[in-house]
Amino acid sequence: MNATTQTPSLSGNHHRGTLARRPRRLHLEMTESRVALITFDHPDKAANIFDGMTLYELDIALRAVEKLRARGLVFLSEKPAVFIAGADLKALNDAVPGKSGESLPSLVERGQTLFSRIAALDIPTVAAIHGACVGGGLELALACDRRIASDDKVTRLGLPETLLGILPAWGGSTRLPRLIGLPKALDLILSGKLLASGHARKVGLVDEVMPRERLRGRALALLNEPARERPGHFLTNNRLSAAVIRLLTRRNLMKKTRGHYPAVLEALGVASRGANSDPARSFAREAAAFIRLAKTDVARNLLRVHFLQEGAKHFRYDEAIDPKRLPPVHATAVIGAGVMGAGIAQWLTSKNHPVILRDLDPERVAAGMKTISGLFDEAVKKRILTRHEAGRKLDLVTPSATAVPLYRCDLVVEAAVENLEVKKKIFADLCARTSPGTILATNTSALPITDLCTAEGVSGPERLIGLHFFNPVSRMKLVEVVVTDFTSPETVERTLGFVRSIGKLPVVVKDSPGFLVNRILMPYLIEAGRLVDAGIDPARIDVAMLDFGMPMGPLRLLDEIGLDVASHVAGTMQETFGDRFAVPGVLSRLVEAGHLGKKSGRGFYHYGGRRKVTRVAGDGGAALPPGPEIAASLAGLMVTEAERCLSEGLVASADEVDLAMILGTGFAPFRGGPLAYAASLRSAPDASINH
Ligand code: NAI
Repeated sequence: MNATTQTPSLSGNHHRGTLARRPRRLHLEMTESRVALITFDHPDKAANIFDGMTLYELDIALRAVEKLRARGLVFLSEKPAVFIAGADLKALNDAVPGKSGESLPSLVERGQTLFSRIAALDIPTVAAIHGACVGGGLELALACDRRIASDDKVTRLGLPETLLGILPAWGGSTRLPRLIGLPKALDLILSGKLLASGHARKVGLVDEVMPRERLRGRALALLNEPARERPGHFLTNNRLSAAVIRLLTRRNLMKKTRGHYPAVLEALGVASRGANSDPARSFAREAAAFIRLAKTDVARNLLRVHFLQEGAKHFRYDEAIDPKRLPPVHATAVIGAGVMGAGIAQWLTSKNHPVILRDLDPERVAAGMKTISGLFDEAVKKRILTRHEAGRKLDLVTPSATAVPLYRCDLVVEAAVENLEVKKKIFADLCARTSPGTILATNTSALPITDLCTAEGVSGPERLIGLHFFNPVSRMKLVEVVVTDFTSPETVERTLGFVRSIGKLPVVVKDSPGFLVNRILMPYLIEAGRLVDAGIDPARIDVAMLDFGMPMGPLRLLDEIGLDVASHVAGTMQETFGDRFAVPGVLSRLVEAGHLGKKSGRGFYHYGGRRKVTRVAGDGGAALPPGPEIAASLAGLMVTEAERCLSEGLVASADEVDLAMILGTGFAPFRGGPLAYAASLRSAPDASINH
């Protein structure tokens, strides 16, 4: 049936030798009816990406398609979960002076030229998409006449470039608004979100959705069908509408990002102007904006955070251990069905782990089950799961109000109340109720895990470990894996594998009160309280930190955490680290008055109905420092504590500190985390706070 399965060699091509030696990233086939099929299949990676060699091979394949006078062209992927995952970010990382990579203008130009050649072919072209079709992958698909996609869950389409501080510059910012209209295109480009194929069809990004097995046949059939008329989007894309959309969107973006993320503003400018101007001029604007953005510290920081996350996915604690030889973690139990226990149990079952959920009495277990089913309802509403899938996952929870044997559990996570004596008893009981190979983990926020290892009745402390999930579990990616002197490397490696298998990112931290994230966060929260004591309005402090780039001000955050919980955590740390962790007066007064934050309807702010600032009596009399000064001094406390943690060896590197703070607290990602921020101040002291 297939006339050839060779990447065509072009006579006189000086790269011929290189191609012959290297494994191929793509294959070109010509069917008997003269349809060219280009199938991406990177030989040694799970994902196809547009690295230099793939672009080169695509260039050769396109020349062959042009030369061999194909009747049509279809793009496919052989990978089980990826069409094309985007451009090679390492190439972007290396495209700076001093590194040997390709230059930025050349990187942009290669992709733009190739995709423009696809768009200019005088034969019909179809992208048959199964799996992630992201960034440069989607830009290739946009250059085709038609796009069809599999209905599989792994098929997701989007342009996440702005999340990395750059913009789609291989034609995507120009072609997408023309295809689906400016408002929908901006929604995709500015948010960086990925759409499931059904949603992508609704917005007009793909033409048809079908089971994967039918993709290739349907793509071939489509080549024989006349092109459908596409909507012109004149109402939204004309010059006047685009200008209004640009103005309004810019205003919203400035409110949301406070001007810290230039990529969204640049992308807005390029996409809204490109919707109604000559494409060639728009491509030039894409290229210029990309080059400007890629050189910024913001893009460099965001790219670094991306690579740090990739690193956390593959981090090994002890290279001498072969993770494949470790017993897998499947069956689990969670002790405590409160806020965290229920959240953890729901997350574990959503990843198909059976969970025994234990609390002291049937009422509390029932309340935990209600929380879990509410979380599954939300997942159904957001179309993450079907009703049927959610039901099956909910069935994986076994509620238990009595102490049952846990011998079959591979891992138990304790998430009972934050009280050392209670936890000691629970761990002694767990030791008697589990097998020696069961990992015993605690979700404590700040208590010393070593004290649990040495508690009466606790045996086999090498299997005790901290597994510190953040609240809300379903949204927070970070898990601190806390290691004591007793914890065995096998336990750490097994736990790391487990954390990754449930889609979270682990950072390994040595046991010490507050571990890493709460330790760094707490002096900052405490100082915010002291500023209130000194008479500064809570809203002023919170706005200063929002302007700095934090997702929430420190006093709002205290209200979210619970003022009683925060006071307790601070108290635990004060015992070890001294008075910089002393609870500020305002916090004690609010707790005494029963104002515990959001959960009690009142803390630093009133909750319910319209939110307004509580009039908290401070000592008064403070001269009001400007917002940037407040922000610099509060952020400086996080920096100092982060430096202490690093020098104490709590974590292995500054990278881990920055990643943990960004994932665990939302520390302004564009600043690259507290230690990258400190380094930037040292290299440009005058640019301390650039609002
Ligand atoms: P919570 O008060 O909502 O729930 C604790 C649950 O543990 C209650 O349902 C209680 O009945 C149960 N419990 C108490 N003693 C028990 C025992 N002996 N056996 C079984 N269950 C028992 O508390 P929350 O907020 O869920 O916190 C749980 C743990 O997670 C604490 O150690 C806390 O420090 C930690 N944590 C809390 C976070 C938060 O934001 N709430 C964040 C990260 C960690």
